[in-house]
Amino acid sequence: MLIQRKSDNIILPSEITPREFVDARRQFLKQLAMGAAGGTGLLEMAGRQAFAQSDSPRKLAATTNSSYVVMDNRTPYKDATTYNNFYEFGTDKSEPAKTAGSLKTRPWTVSIEGEVSKPVKLDLDSLMKMAPLEERIYRLRCVEGWSMVIPWIGFSLSNLIKKVEPTSNAKYVEFTSLADRSQMPGVRDDVLNWPYVEGLRMDEAMHPLALLTFGMYGEVLPNQNGAPVRMVLPWKYGFKSAKSIVRIRFTSSQPKTAWNLAAPHEYGFYSNVNPDVDHPRWSQASERRIGEDGYFTKKRKTLMFNGYSEVAGLYSGMDLRKYY
Ligand code: MTE
Repeated sequence: MLIQRKSDNIILPSEITPREFVDARRQFLKQLAMGAAGGTGLLEMAGRQAFAQSDSPRKLAATTNSSYVVMDNRTPYKDATTYNNFYEFGTDKSEPAKTAGSLKTRPWTVSIEGEVSKPVKLDLDSLMKMAPLEERIYRLRCVEGWSMVIPWIGFSLSNLIKKVEPTSNAKYVEFTSLADRSQMPGVRDDVLNWPYVEGLRMDEAMHPLALLTFGMYGEVLPNQNGAPVRMVLPWKYGFKSAKSIVRIRFTSSQPKTAWNLAAPHEYGFYSNVNPDVDHPRWSQASERRIGEDGYFTKKRKTLMFNGYSEVAGLYSGMDLRKYY
């Protein structure tokens, strides 16, 4: 995320690192190794294997749900796991991959509470067994102007919501991430008011696209991508998809979310991907695909709701400039 420091009015240096220069050269090399169809290239496989050896990832079985597979090229695993926003592990994109090893993801408990008839504390295995795991390939668009295409593993959050039986007072769902200084070095920095909190309106949370996510690329989530459980909301800017969730709370009033509290004029509660509504400090009309578009590539057009037009009905009658 881009943050405007109160004192100096600047964008963090980490955000302006010209990664694209590196990418331009990498893209050229990759094209040598990739087939025209853009399947798993030799370099991707080699890079991923090297990463796998150092990180011993664990496989996670899932059935592909073809209704939720975008046709874009998948972002190389290496890029998706080394270019991260996870401020609890540092504000530089490369930091989470280096520092998130300290996160202990088992045992892990998620507390489901608030306006529900059946509040429950679930360990990870019980949570994962609530519905069959599916693989879905989603586009994820970050508010900063870059995007990725990732094969996630999880199930629609609606499966869980139905089981805990929300009361008639439940109008919103709030997600809270772990904030533990002993495991998360970034939490010592007051860049955000910890813990990281995000939220959805109830009908958004019930939408089948809203994915409670446990894995990616056929494996459990790497820590830097939000292990052991996170949300993925492909029609919203990436910051709505909270990582390393410890609490899901059903509320009658709109949750106070971390980025909205930090910079209300820049990050609204809804934060649907919208090329027509610019961020106060930059355009949202186009984006750069990480791992694919180099610095000199023309940026690609950003699509309304990130291309997930099936969510449009959730917002009919709403002024999306006001409810950004
Ligand atoms: N969740 C927590 N707890 N902390 C964060 O800093 N960053 C958000 C989101 N979820 C963030 C978070 C942002 S800005 C983005 S773009 C996505 O995670 C990035 O997810 P990825 O690293 O898996 O691509």
